[in-house]
Amino acid sequence: MIKLKKLTKQADNKLILRGVDLSIKKGETVAILGPNGAGKSTLLKVLATLIKPTSGQVMINGLELRKNQIMIKKLLGYLPHSSLLYDHYSPLENLVFFGNIYGVKDVEKKARKLVKDVGLSFFLNEPVKNFSRGMIQRIAIARAIIHEPEILLLDEPHTGLDQGAISILNNVILSMKEKGTTTLMVTHDFKQAAEICDRVIIVKNGIIVDDFKVEDRNLRFVTEKYEFQVEGAS
Ligand SMILES: Nc1ncnc2c1ncn2[C@@H]1O[C@H](COP(=O)(O)OP(=O)(O)OP(=O)(O)O)[C@@H](O)[C@H]1O
Ligand SMILES: [Mg+2]
Repeated sequence: MIKLKKLTKQADNKLILRGVDLSIKKGETVAILGPNGAGKSTLLKVLATLIKPTSGQVMINGLELRKNQIMIKKLLGYLPHSSLLYDHYSPLENLVFFGNIYGVKDVEKKARKLVKDVGLSFFLNEPVKNFSRGMIQRIAIARAIIHEPEILLLDEPHTGLDQGAISILNNVILSMKEKGTTTLMVTHDFKQAAEICDRVIIVKNGIIVDDFKVEDRNLRFVTEKYEFQVEGAS
């Protein structure tokens, strides 16, 4: 359902993505690992239709990304490094605002439920500008899923979360997986990758250098593969 062919991205004379070929099936949960500057966030931004690729092809659900941006955007939930929330709005107001953009039905009821799911009911009507980093991240996660996207694109989603919020996030990802959601998650947290993903991709210098399945939440297997590709080969 997601297919990339010879994808490249150039910026300021620098080739950030150098020919990415990738095929992801519906319902897969895929971790994207790689060192700083490897091109992981850039890859996610191309898929989120925020930046245009320089060359190559991106197909999502059989649709060519270049020609069907509006339709594809509706299928996507994107959690970037920055929260995208409005500072002066409360969690409820933020979620209702974003839900309305996507035409979510019963949006207020849904927003209230999501705020509860991420454990912030007590702060339902407080402006998010007073929130801690972890609290903002919790609401940002709720924002990314309010329209029940078919594809989740998460950029370092566990950053800043406490243990409680990590299990809330993991449960969100796993329950969306049960409904058939496909997830691509950029992370430096190998433990979470092994915990919730069934496949790992390693990106280095703008290309995929390894792509393998994770079985039995085998963290050691993931770490060894990463060390071999990233640390050993340098
Ligand atoms: N708009 C841009 N113009 C020029 N260079 C850019 C641009 N965006 C990203 N880059 C460069 O592309 C490279 C890849 O950046 P990217 O943010 O995709 O890395 P990353 O793998 O997500 O790294 P990190 O783990 O640190 O988040 C970096 O060297 C970055 O400086
Ligand atoms: Mg990044």
